[in-house]
Amino acid sequence: MGWWCVPDALASLPRVPLALHPTPLHPLDRLRRHLGGPEKVPRLLIKRDDLNGVALGGNKLRKLEYLLGDALAQNADTLITAGAAQSNHCRQTAGVGAMTGMETHLCLRGPAPETHTGNLILDDWLGAILHFTDPGTDVSAAMEPLAAALAARGRRPYRIPIGGSNAVGSVGYVTAAQELALQCLEADHIVVATGSGGTQAGLEVGVRRAGLAAKIIGIGVAEPDTTSWNADVANLANAVAARLADPGFSLTPADIECPMDWMGPHYAAPTPACDAAIRLLARTEGVFLDPVYSGKAFAALLDLVRQARFSPRETVVFWHTGGSPALFATGH
Ligand SMILES: Cc1ncc(COP(=O)(O)O)c(C=O)c1O
Repeated sequence: MGWWCVPDALASLPRVPLALHPTPLHPLDRLRRHLGGPEKVPRLLIKRDDLNGVALGGNKLRKLEYLLGDALAQNADTLITAGAAQSNHCRQTAGVGAMTGMETHLCLRGPAPETHTGNLILDDWLGAILHFTDPGTDVSAAMEPLAAALAARGRRPYRIPIGGSNAVGSVGYVTAAQELALQCLEADHIVVATGSGGTQAGLEVGVRRAGLAAKIIGIGVAEPDTTSWNADVANLANAVAARLADPGFSLTPADIECPMDWMGPHYAAPTPACDAAIRLLARTEGVFLDPVYSGKAFAALLDLVRQARFSPRETVVFWHTGGSPALFATGH
C-alpha cells in the first residue's frame, strides 16, 4: 500500500481535536546571525508545539488527541497515566482530562515532595489525582493495580503509557509531519528531543509518507527502554505504520539517528550545555526551552551547527516540544 493511502487510514482513526494546530513555524534569524550568519549557518526554523494551547501546551497533546479518541471509543470515563514527578506528559494529560470531564489519575515517580513546584502545581490546579510512589517503584506497572481498584469502584479506566508513546498516540506525529509538509517542504533536517520515543517514531513515519526529504535527528535525553533508541524508535515506527495499514513500511535501527551525547549523566541531569542553550535562545529570540528535553536537544543543534554538520544552503527545523513549566521546578 502506498503513501497516498495513509491519509485515509489516518482519517479513520478516532481523534478528539483538542489543541491549536497547525502550530507556528518561524525563522530564528537573530540566532542565525549570532552563530555566524547565512554564509556559515543553515536556515534555522522552529516549529512551536510548545504553543498548542491546552494547559501550557507541548508535544503530548498531539498524541493525546488520538489516545483520547481511543479512550472514548472504548467508553472510558477515567484516564490513568504515569511519569516523573515533573512529567510534562502527565500535566498535559491532566489538561485534556479537565477539558473533557474525565477523572485523571497520575502515578508519579517518587514520594510526595514537601512543596509542589513546576508541573506539580499545574497538575493539582487541573484537578488530577496524584499517586506518589516509593523510591524505585515501576510507575508503569503501578498503573495496573490502580486501574483494577478504580474498576472495582465502577470507573472505566483507560491506561496511557509513559509519554503517550504507543502506536495509538504516536500517530499524532504522523499528522504533525503532514502539517510541516504544508508549511515547509524544503526542510532538510529535523532536530527533536527523544524521551520516550513516540514523537520521533511518529515523525519517522510521517516525514516519509508526506514526501519530505528531511532527515530526523532525535536527541536522546532519557535512557532507552532496551539497548538503544535506534531499536526502540524503529520498532515503534513500524507499529505506527502497521496501525495505518501500511504493511510495506519497515525501518531498521540503522535507519534511525538518535545520539545520546547531550543527555548528561542521566535523565533530567542538568548540563552546562543545556543551560547555555536555554539562555542563548531566550536572549536572541525570546523563546523559552526546558531543562530536561528541548534545552538538551537545542544544545545538540547548536553543537551540530558549530561542527558544520549542516550546509549553509540547508534548512533545519528545530521541533520545540514544550516543557517550559519545568523551568520553575525542583526535583525532576
Ligand atoms: C518537553 C518534552 N519534549 C520532548 C519529549 C520527548 O517526547 P517523546 O516522549 O515522544 O520522545 C517530552 C516527553 O517525554 C517532553 O515532555
